Amino acid sequence: MIYFDNAATTMLKPPEVAQAVAAAINSFGGVGRATHDAALGADMTVYRARRQVAKLFGAPDPKRVVFTHNVTEALNIIITGLVGSGDHAVTTAASHNSVLRPLFRATDKLGAQASVLAVDTQARIDYEEFDSLFRSNTRLAIVTHASNLTGDVYDIARMASITHAHGALFAVDAAQSAGVIDIDMVRDSLDIVAFTGHKSLYGPQGTGGLVLAPHVDLPSYNEGGTGTHSYERRQPEFYPEHLEAGTLNAHGIAGLLEGLNYIEKTGVTAIHGKLRGLVARLEAGAGTIHSIRIYGGHGGIDRCGVVALNVGNVPSAEVADILSNEYGICTRAGAHCAPLMHEALGTSDQGAVRMSFGSFNTETEVDAALEALAEIAGRV
Ligand code: ALA
Repeated sequence: MIYFDNAATTMLKPPEVAQAVAAAINSFGGVGRATHDAALGADMTVYRARRQVAKLFGAPDPKRVVFTHNVTEALNIIITGLVGSGDHAVTTAASHNSVLRPLFRATDKLGAQASVLAVDTQARIDYEEFDSLFRSNTRLAIVTHASNLTGDVYDIARMASITHAHGALFAVDAAQSAGVIDIDMVRDSLDIVAFTGHKSLYGPQGTGGLVLAPHVDLPSYNEGGTGTHSYERRQPEFYPEHLEAGTLNAHGIAGLLEGLNYIEKTGVTAIHGKLRGLVARLEAGAGTIHSIRIYGGHGGIDRCGVVALNVGNVPSAEVADILSNEYGICTRAGAHCAPLMHEALGTSDQGAVRMSFGSFNTETEVDAALEALAEIAGRV
């Protein structure tokens, strides 16, 4: 099998990830709940993971790394907390439904307002137009760092600077970019970063979170046990407990810690370089095949490890099925929960075949995919 669906979830992980989860299952007590060795072992691992997340994103305070079940939950916490009645928010059409739907819930049910920056037919955004969307009541700009459809990487430092000039907070959805593109919350002036554990951080599903800059506060989202201050009626105000009610997925976080350690050892720059190389190889080869159309990647824009393409007018789901059934190549077809991006690219009906790479993919696998695509294109 060739696994090219890493933008959905990385399947090939460093072996230490599964080993750590297996070891944690039978050795962890409840994290943050007791002082016996089993509980302290879990506490220590979760703290190490917080420290590694903070280090990866250049965040000053590990206590402001909050773990959630996935990036969707993190994005809901941010949007629900900051966009209420009378507030205005800005996003881009490159956003995933995990940003769009919570924002549209706020506009449709709470009387908030939202502006969506268009992407053009080549997936590009116009930063001056982004600037023009802000209003006096804009509280939040929340943008995807790298499109989950095209892999195009947007300039978050530039958007943060524009956002701050308007007095709003800037949040980044780093679902596809964490561990692939260098992110530094201080250098790039980011107020909040939301991440998932199971994609490019190589952790297990059911892990993710958000990182808050020291000056940012969010209302609690879930309320419940934190293992401390139990006689207080309300959720503690301090972090991470303020946003972490209930027992954490410490087993998953143990695996995530190993994913983070792998990224530190390998280096974000090296991982990015490798993924860019695989993207360039696939796009160069596919560009020579009759009837293949590639989306995104225009004007030398930076990329994470994602390529979207179509073969003639064949429905993307049909091509993905042929790739899977006849060649053992796993891709993702359809809409990718990115409706506005597909509308901009003109692929709402056909969808697109997305090939997305991880650190363990090889050039040989890319060449095999190119041969398969050439054969499929030959039938059209
Ligand atoms: N958001 C994930 C993807 O793009 C699941 O496939």
